[in-house]
Parts: sequence; C-alpha cells; structure tokens
Amino acid sequence: MTIIVIASGKGGVGKTSIAVNMAITMSRILPGRRVALLDADLGLANANLIMGIQPAHNTKDIENGMTAEQVATERHGISLIAGESGAKQKTLESVRRMLKACIAISADVLVVDTSPGISDAMTEIIAVGDLVIVVSTPEITALTDSYQLLKYLIRSGKVKGELNLLMNKVGERDNGSSQATAVTDLCLNYLGRRVGQLGHIRRNQAVEQAIMEQRPFSIVDPGSKPSRDLENVCQTIIDKWEMNHG
Ligand SMILES: Nc1ncnc2c1ncn2[C@@H]1O[C@H](COP(=O)(O)OP(=O)(O)O)[C@@H](O)[C@H]1O
Ligand SMILES: [Mg+2]
Repeated sequence: MTIIVIASGKGGVGKTSIAVNMAITMSRILPGRRVALLDADLGLANANLIMGIQPAHNTKDIENGMTAEQVATERHGISLIAGESGAKQKTLESVRRMLKACIAISADVLVVDTSPGISDAMTEIIAVGDLVIVVSTPEITALTDSYQLLKYLIRSGKVKGELNLLMNKVGERDNGSSQATAVTDLCLNYLGRRVGQLGHIRRNQAVEQAIMEQRPFSIVDPGSKPSRDLENVCQTIIDKWEMNHG
C-alpha cells in the first residue's frame, strides 16, 4: 500500500477538497486498484460532507474496537474512513493506535486528510506517509506557514516519506511556481532537505460550487479545469511511484 498524506500549515488552503478528489481521481486512473481515504482531521473532520455521505461510523468507532473495514463507507469508487468531528484532544498513544488500525485496511492507495498546523499528533500522522503533500496557496501567509510546517517536520527527524509542495488556488496566468520554488529552495539551503513540487491547481469556482452541492468536483465534471489540473498532479505522482518502485 502507498500512503499519501495531505498536510498544510495554514487552514482553508484546500486540503480536504484535494484529498477527496485525489482519492477519486486515483481510483479512476488506476483501474482495479482499491483506493481508501482516511479523514484524520482530528479537530473538524469534514471529508464526508464534501462526499455527500452521512457516515454510520467514524474513527471514534475504530478507537472503540471496530476494524477499518467495518467503519469504511463506499462511495464514488473509494472507501472513506470518516473522521470524528469535534473530538476532544487525543493522546499520542490513541492517535498511534487509531492510525495502525486504519492502515490495516486492504487498499492499494490510502490518502490521508489532516488538520492544519504544527503538533506532535499531526507529525505522528504525517510520518506514516510514503508521500507527504504540503498544500499551499500563493499567499504570503500560506507560504510562510508551509515553510514553518516543513521546517518542523524536517527537524523532527520523524518524516521519512518524500516531501512535496502542491500549489492550490493559483491564478490563470501565474501558476505559483516561483513562490513554490522560493519555499523549496529555503528547505534545501537552510534545512538540507529536497522538497519536490507537484505543480498546481487553479482557483476555480467549480470547486466551491461542488462543495455547496456536496458532490466532489472531479465527479461533477471530470473535464473541468480543477479536475484536469488534479489529474495532472495524480499522473505525476503515479509516474514517480513507478520510478521509485522500478
Ligand atoms: N482550487 C480551488 N478553487 C477555488 N476554491 C477552492 C479551491 N480549493 C479549495 N477551495 C475553497 O477553499 C475552501 C477551503 O477548502 P478546504 O478543502 O475545506 O480546505 P482545508 O481542508 O485546507 O481547510 C473551500 O470553501 C473550497 O471551496
Ligand atoms: Mg480540511
């Protein structure tokens, strides 16, 4: 199984939209493979809302002994392990136990959505990723928070997965690549770690509209700009895996 963790420094940059639609797009372009999505936003889980699902179970039930298979809901070609919204702060031990049980799901790809910001619990979750995608926007505040998160993760020494930056909500003309390069250059020059770039997803009203309808944008219109941008990102990831795994 390949685990892809979607993280960010700043909230509201588009992690959940990307996690949901990436899982769906991966399952579409990798026929015959099972793709699962874990909502590990420990504060305000909402992947189920974007997918239009009222889940019968969530990660709280996993903590109480159910298996990931029992908790997962099938929709749009993927298996969602919904998160617990409004949960109390969890101990590191309970986060570890929950993660272990979720990773036991039989899937070829597991996409993990997370809470924004810097914490030990988040580092624990991010550390399970083979591929860690830090989502940023071109805004200076988001870029600064992306660098702070990357710095924290790199200095923790716990994150062995490949770190990558993905720019979201970019303009039609400026695709955010110079801003992304500024962040990845800082990581290389000051922290000694190479952080890759996975390209961009344009700011597009179809994303907001889809959330209002509680239908993933990649399902509403797979030919829309954000759907095609995300498909390019998924293809880049798949090509990278094939490189890494011969
Ligand atoms: N590419 C995009 N274009 C336009 N709006 C976007 C885009 N990506 C995300 N959004 C909007 O940003 C808001 C936050 O998205 P969300 O996925 O919930 O972010 P996060 O999970 O990082 O908090 C939502 O209202 C969503 O519609
Ligand atoms: Mg979110």
